[in-house]
Formats: sequence, structure tokens, C-alpha cells
Amino acid sequence: MLIDTYGRVATDLRVSLTDRCNLRCTYCMPEEGLQWLAKPDLLTDDEIVRLVRIAVTQLGITEVRFTGGEPLLRPGLVGIVERVAQLEPRPQMSLTTNGIGLKRTAAALKQAGLDRVNVSLDTLRPDVFKTLTRRDRHKDVIAGLEAASEAGLTPVKVNSVLMPGLNDDEAPELLAWAVEHDYELRFIEQMPLDAQHGWKRDGMITAGDILASLRTRFDLTPEGSGERGSAPAERWLVDGGPQRVGVIASVTRPFCSACDRTRLTADGQVRTCLFASEETDLRAALRSDSGDDEIARIWKLAMWGKKAGSGLDDPTFLQPERPMSAIGG
Ligand code: GTP
Ligand code: 5AD
Ligand code: SF4
Repeated sequence: MLIDTYGRVATDLRVSLTDRCNLRCTYCMPEEGLQWLAKPDLLTDDEIVRLVRIAVTQLGITEVRFTGGEPLLRPGLVGIVERVAQLEPRPQMSLTTNGIGLKRTAAALKQAGLDRVNVSLDTLRPDVFKTLTRRDRHKDVIAGLEAASEAGLTPVKVNSVLMPGLNDDEAPELLAWAVEHDYELRFIEQMPLDAQHGWKRDGMITAGDILASLRTRFDLTPEGSGERGSAPAERWLVDGGPQRVGVIASVTRPFCSACDRTRLTADGQVRTCLFASEETDLRAALRSDSGDDEIARIWKLAMWGKKAGSGLDDPTFLQPERPMSAIGG
């Protein structure tokens, strides 16, 4: 079991498969991209499957999410999913993607054993998409979403980040569209994880702003008892339900006390938190012929040292060195 000193147990593993991306979202990376990890530094497909196997057989992980960068850029993705689906006990498997290329791969991913996808889409306006992501690929994302639904990678969730002056007026429009297509929409507060270190608390759109904007057009009632457990999203029923909308308010309503996550970067480092300042090198252990028990021990020890929270409210908060695209969201 991966337990920390606050008693939190990690059952959810997020695996970044690559730090590369085919978009250049302004809240994530600069126009010219970043210095990508070198191929020999990346975990191989075999190494990834081995670590996931150790996580599910020895460490109590029940859910595995593949992330990036953009995970569809990893050539071995379908094979990795297929092999993880054979593990006993079989974990739930999901993917967080920008949706480009999903049209081509959705059916194969479903066939390989992927359960569901979360697709990032911040706007319904192709011109705004181009400004936000610096690429003219809006229709590819829409096609990817449709393919995911058709393939049964459901519930399909859509993640949207609202940026001031760009798409902050679009929340109701996005929700109407999501309801129509049966996608579960979640708005994410912008976090200080951009490579350019340009995040400002003053400028960001908060959960409060988003809810106020949605309420101009929809009636929102908290889902269930308002308990969200360990899920980052707080959810509301839209006009009485059954459709829902979520808000992931990492900045203004942090959920660290219920966190159930552990993360692996594409170069084989364990991160105990999105905002962790330290990492633990599992790749070195893998490549020095450590046995499964030894790797499990190192992973447990890393999680035992997990901090109480993100530290975002701490006056001495320092943004992690690794940007979002190299952590895996
Ligand atoms: P579901 O199981 O579908 O709810 O997945 P998810 O929302 O955890 O995953 P997804 O990859 O779609 O992440 C959505 C947003 O939540 C991203 O912006 C993530 O960075 C953020 N997020 C995910 N895990 C954490 C976390 O542990 N802490 C914080 N602060 N944010 C997180
Ligand atoms: N703050 C909040 N969300 C972000 N994402 C990427 N960068 C940031 C950021 N700085 C979102 C992506 C994707 C999800 C994994 O994280 O848009 O939906
Ligand atoms: Fe957990 Fe860190 Fe995320 Fe907070 S920021 S919820 S502690 S992983």
C-alpha cells in the first residue's frame, strides 16, 4: 500500500508517456516548445508495464491514467494498454489527451482495453482555439471526441481551462454543447505549472467566476451530498440532471487532504504531488537490476514523504521546476 504520514492512501497512478505535445497551449508552454526529454532517458514500454505491474500487484493501485505531454504521440501506447489490461487484478484504465489523433486510434484503444478518455478542449470557436493552442486543429479535436464516444470510451469527459480575455465568456456555451453531446464537462482553474512561469493569481478565472457565469443560463445544484471524495472535480447537476458539470478548483478550493494520487514521469521519476519539489528515481532502480520488491520499497518510501498539500497558499511557494507537460497533469 502507498500510504503517507497523513494517512492518505494512493490508489490512482498517473503515468506520463511522453513530455512532447503537438499543441502549444499558452497556459502550458511557449511557442517554440520545450527541450524534450532524450529518447534514452524515457522509460521503455517494457519498463512502464513492469512498473504498472508492480503498482497493481504489490502497491494497491486500482486506477491507471496515461497522460503526457500528449500520450497519443507515444508509438507504443496501444501495446502498453493491451499489456496493462492483462494484469491481475486488472486496473481501470483511462487516458487524458488533447484529442488530436483520437479519431484514428479510439477504436484500437477500446479494443486494447482502455476504459475511458478525458479530452482537453477550451473553446468551441476555431479562431480562439488557434490563438490559445497556436495550432489550427479545432476540427481534429471535435472529430476525436466523436470517435471516442462512438468507440464507447465513456463517459467522455472534456476539460476546459478559461483564460481571461480569450474564452472566459464561453462557459455557458461550452456547457450547452457538452450537454447536447453527452460529454461530462469540467472546468479547471489555471495552475502555476506553465513553463514560462507567467501564472498570476490575480488574473486567473476562479471556480466562483465560472459558477456565476454558468448560473446566468443554467440551474446548478450540488450533486449528492456535495461530497467529492478523492475526485478533484466538484460536480453540479445541470437543470436538475442527469447531466453534470464539474469544477476542478485546485487553487481556490484545494482538495489535497483527500488526495489519492501517485505519479510517474516519462523518465521514470515518482512524483508524490503535482507540485512536489522532489522526485524519486525509479528508472535508476529499474536499470540497476533491482527486483520488484526493492522497487516497491523505494516507491513506498517516496510516498511516505508526501507533503500535506500543494503549498500554493504558502507565501514561500515555488513553482516546481518541471512544467505541467512533463509531469502529466
Ligand atoms: P477523472 O478520474 O476522470 O476525474 O480524472 P482527473 O480529473 O483526475 O484527470 P484529468 O487528467 O482529466 O485531470 C483534470 C485536471 O485535474 C488537470 O488539470 C489535472 O492537472 C488536475 N489534477 C489531476 N490530479 C490532480 C491532483 O492530484 N492535484 C491537483 N491539484 N490537480 C489535479
Ligand atoms: N493549469 C490548469 N490546467 C492545465 N492544463 C494544462 N496546463 C494547465 C495549467 N497550467 C490542463 C490541460 C488538460 C489537463 C490535463 O490539464 O488543459 O486538460
Ligand atoms: Fe494531492 Fe498534491 Fe494534488 Fe494536493 S496538489 S491534491 S497534495 S497531488
